[in-house]
Amino acid sequence: MNYIKAFAPATVANVACGFDIFGFAIEEPGDTVEIWRRDEPGIVIKEITGDEGRLPRIAEKNAVTVVMIHLLKHLGMTDFGCEVALHKNMPLGSGMGSSAASAVAGVVALNELLGAPLSRQELLPFAMEGERIASGSAHADNVGPSLLGGFVVIRSYTPLDIFTIPVPTDLYCTLVHPDIEINTKDARYILRDEVSLKNTIAQMGNVAGLVAGLMKADYGLISRSMVDVIIEPVRSILIPEFKEVKRAAIENGALGCSISGSGPSMFALSQGMDNVRKAGIAMQDTFARVGIESSMHLSAINQGGATILEKKG
Ligand code: HSE
Repeated sequence: MNYIKAFAPATVANVACGFDIFGFAIEEPGDTVEIWRRDEPGIVIKEITGDEGRLPRIAEKNAVTVVMIHLLKHLGMTDFGCEVALHKNMPLGSGMGSSAASAVAGVVALNELLGAPLSRQELLPFAMEGERIASGSAHADNVGPSLLGGFVVIRSYTPLDIFTIPVPTDLYCTLVHPDIEINTKDARYILRDEVSLKNTIAQMGNVAGLVAGLMKADYGLISRSMVDVIIEPVRSILIPEFKEVKRAAIENGALGCSISGSGPSMFALSQGMDNVRKAGIAMQDTFARVGIESSMHLSAINQGGATILEKKG
């Protein structure tokens, strides 16, 4: 192959109670990476669109190409040469797994160009390095679902132990992105290191409840378990109208609503397409009442993760 184009979807990380351990992908939007083989060694960034010129154009500094450099090094192919184009279709600092989608699209495209020497699971640690560059932390709850699809659980980071669980077929996600920006590094910095035993017990109950609720398609249990007593109370102060938007989603049929990743996007899960739309309109209206514009995405849980869109020999 001489040319590959790959797509990797946006993701909702944390999913209320599962900070750094739960995440799922949605269908759209997502980032696209194109990659062309070239004769000279080294990776060159040919073009980046949709970032308003904000991402680094130097291969050693951009999360997408850093991930590729790591992969080539691992394969002992540091002489390999390619040109890369990144097309961003979601805002930076949005809480939609923007940097993860770029890194995943990049590593999937390069792996395909090389004849797929590694499996999707094996690509995960490389994609996580992209998160380290972008946010200072190699968390897997965005890259995992963007790469693998489905609802992902990260049982352990050392060693990495990650798996997907089934979700009910009638479960849909509303993702509302208010037009403000929150840097993941900052949103992690404000978190406390210590958690009380009382809150740990409450959070563990909800984590267990959400996994069981999803696997048993028990919507009542899903709803009762979408409660975060540790992270949301701290981070929600960064999102104007957080409580009101959450209330609006729940009053309009959502099972639960919380911060998507490190925010400012907020997500809700609902049973059925009607509820998911109703919740989304109510969430957007609530932001609009205080003059905050937002965009909305409605989606099933994406089961496939990243895809190859085009290849040329
Ligand atoms: N789990 C990460 C966090 C996701 O909340 O900081 C960031 O998108």
